[in-house]
Amino acid sequence: PESHTGYSYEDCMATAVWLLAQTAVRPLVGIVCGSGLGGLADMLKDQVVFNYRDIPNFPQSTVHGHAGRLVFGTLKGRPCVCMQGRFHLYEGYPIQKITLPMRIFKLLGVETVILTNAAGGLNQDFKVGDIMIIKDHLNMPGFAGNNPLIGPNDERFGVRFPCMSDAYDRELQQLAMDVGVELGYGDFLKEGVYCVLGGPSFETIAECRMLHKLGADAVGMSTVHEVIVARHCGMRVFALSLITNKAVMDYDSEEKANHEEVLETGKQRAEQLERLVSTMVTRIGHN
Ligand code: 6GU
Repeated sequence: PESHTGYSYEDCMATAVWLLAQTAVRPLVGIVCGSGLGGLADMLKDQVVFNYRDIPNFPQSTVHGHAGRLVFGTLKGRPCVCMQGRFHLYEGYPIQKITLPMRIFKLLGVETVILTNAAGGLNQDFKVGDIMIIKDHLNMPGFAGNNPLIGPNDERFGVRFPCMSDAYDRELQQLAMDVGVELGYGDFLKEGVYCVLGGPSFETIAECRMLHKLGADAVGMSTVHEVIVARHCGMRVFALSLITNKAVMDYDSEEKANHEEVLETGKQRAEQLERLVSTMVTRIGHN
C-alpha cells in the first residue's frame, strides 16, 4: 500500500471546497473534452475559469490540442463544469492523478459525467467523422495491473469491488440516439465498444487486428480510467468517441495514424458533437 499514489478524501475535499468558494455555479453535469473537442467549454455562459496550474492538487496537461482549463458555467441554463483538456497515461502521470478530477466532480455535486474522446475506428463499417456512443469498454492497462482503483479503498467514495457491467448508462445512450436522430445526425451516429491502450505510440497492424477480433470497435488512449473512478463513486456516465481516423488493418494500406489527422477531423465534426452534447444536457433529469 505504501506505493500507491492516490489522493486522500481530504485532499479531494480541499480542492472541491477551494473551487466552490470561488464560483456560485453548483454543477450537476461534469464534462470532459477530448483532443480537439474543447469547444464545448466555450459554449458555457457566465463562465468562471480556472487554469489547471492554479488549482490545488490538480495535474497539468501537456498535450497539444488540450487547453488545461476547468470551466464552470451554464449550458442553456443548466449548471455544468467542463474540463478543457484531460490527462493521459502516456504523459507519465500515475493513474490516480489522471482520474483525480472525477472525485473532485463528485464532491462538487456532479451527478452525471459526459466524456468525449478522439479514437481510431476498428469497426470496418465506421467512417472518419462518425460519432460512436460508447456502450462498453476493454480496459487493456487494467489487464496489465494498471487500474485507477488499485491501492487502499476509501469507502466514502465507493466499494472495494465495483461493478462495471452497467458502467455506461443505458438511458443516456438512448437519449443520445434520440437527440442525434432529431438533429439529423442519424447517418453518422454509431454505437460500440471502446478499447483503451496506454499509448503514446499508435497500434501496429497486428495489434489492430487483435483488438478488432476481441470485440473493440474503436481504440484510444483515454476515458476508461475516468469512467471507472466516476462509476466507483456513483456518478452516471455517458461517453462518445469521435472517429478521427481509421486504424490501419492491412499491410497494403498506405495510411498512417497521426495526431494532425486526429485534430483536423475534430475541427470538422466538433460543432455537431458539441450540439449533440449540449442538447442532451438540457434533457438530463436530476433527482
Ligand atoms: Cl488509431 N489509436 C489510438 N490508440 N488512439 C487514437 C487513435 C488511434 N486515433 C485517435 N486516437
